[in-house]
Amino acid sequence: VNKGNGVRGLAEMGLQSVPNQYVQPVEERIDGAKVVSDESIPIIDVSSWDDPTVTDSICVASRKYGFFQIINHGIPTEVLEKVQAAAHRFFEMPMEDKIKYKRDLAASGTAKLGTSFSPGKEKVMEWKDYLSLQYFTEGIAAVDWPPICKNEALNYAKMVEVLVRKIYHVLLKGLNLKSFDKTKESLLMSWIAVNFNYYPYCPNPDLTVGVGRHSDGSALTVLLQDDVGGLLVRAPDRCSWIHVPPTKGALVINIGDILQLLSNGIYKSIEHMVVTNQRKTRVSIAIFINPAPHQVVAPLPELLEISGEKPLYREIVFIDYFKYFISKGHDGKATIEWA
Ligand code: SIN
Ligand code: FE2
Repeated sequence: VNKGNGVRGLAEMGLQSVPNQYVQPVEERIDGAKVVSDESIPIIDVSSWDDPTVTDSICVASRKYGFFQIINHGIPTEVLEKVQAAAHRFFEMPMEDKIKYKRDLAASGTAKLGTSFSPGKEKVMEWKDYLSLQYFTEGIAAVDWPPICKNEALNYAKMVEVLVRKIYHVLLKGLNLKSFDKTKESLLMSWIAVNFNYYPYCPNPDLTVGVGRHSDGSALTVLLQDDVGGLLVRAPDRCSWIHVPPTKGALVINIGDILQLLSNGIYKSIEHMVVTNQRKTRVSIAIFINPAPHQVVAPLPELLEISGEKPLYREIVFIDYFKYFISKGHDGKATIEWA
């Protein structure tokens, strides 16, 4: 009945309850009691990037929470709204029009439609469909991206690149390192993935997850969420969760595993998840900023020299890390332990 139409297809069938393969084991579900409200992820006004209070807030948040929101970042609201509308347009096309983008996550191609995270590998499926659009900053982008969302996605991603350079500049300074130059840029931001996430309303929010517990395998992630909400981040106590409230015009920034590794554990890649809800379909757009696939990454030698610390992680090739990350499914923050 639902041949290949992902979770959206299931939601549209008007099910009273989700199929068994979406029912999470008890320990993976979220109950209200585990969500704290007395801590929050900082919202930082970045209208002045050189202001020391701004740069300090970014570095402190990256050490403590691994997450922060930014406002007054300079990307026009119109650009944000256009890319969100484009994501809706893509998922709301009939399946016949989307099917040609369906690919295994590991397959080549720069536009991949999928459901859950790693369906072959997961015991239980996540209540999410996604479209992953990839490009290399040095190359020609978007050759086979769906025309219905291509320009909006690329335009937005190019603006995010500018923002990411500013954030990296601040984060490197926060480690007392030389400024963000071309070598660092090629290390930290060569391979970009723009992921449109589509979380349909769900009949059983208590039994399911939109995305299971994980930390990002990227260097940095820039997330645009809509007004529905559902993103939870591990609190510094590592037991409870902090909800990241939708904030108009804001972008959520989070440190990924690769930046934790490069900074020798100073900046934290924090576990997070997404819960489902019964009322509204949620759309988020995550831009993953990655090293090039064959880039070798290790704790930055200059940093070890300054601090006199021993490297906490071994040297890895990014694509090996990425493949392991995908093969593992979402089972909490464990990938970095492999490095
Ligand atoms: C993710 O972390 O994979 C998605 C985050 C979100 O949709 O808010
Ligand atoms: Fe994530």
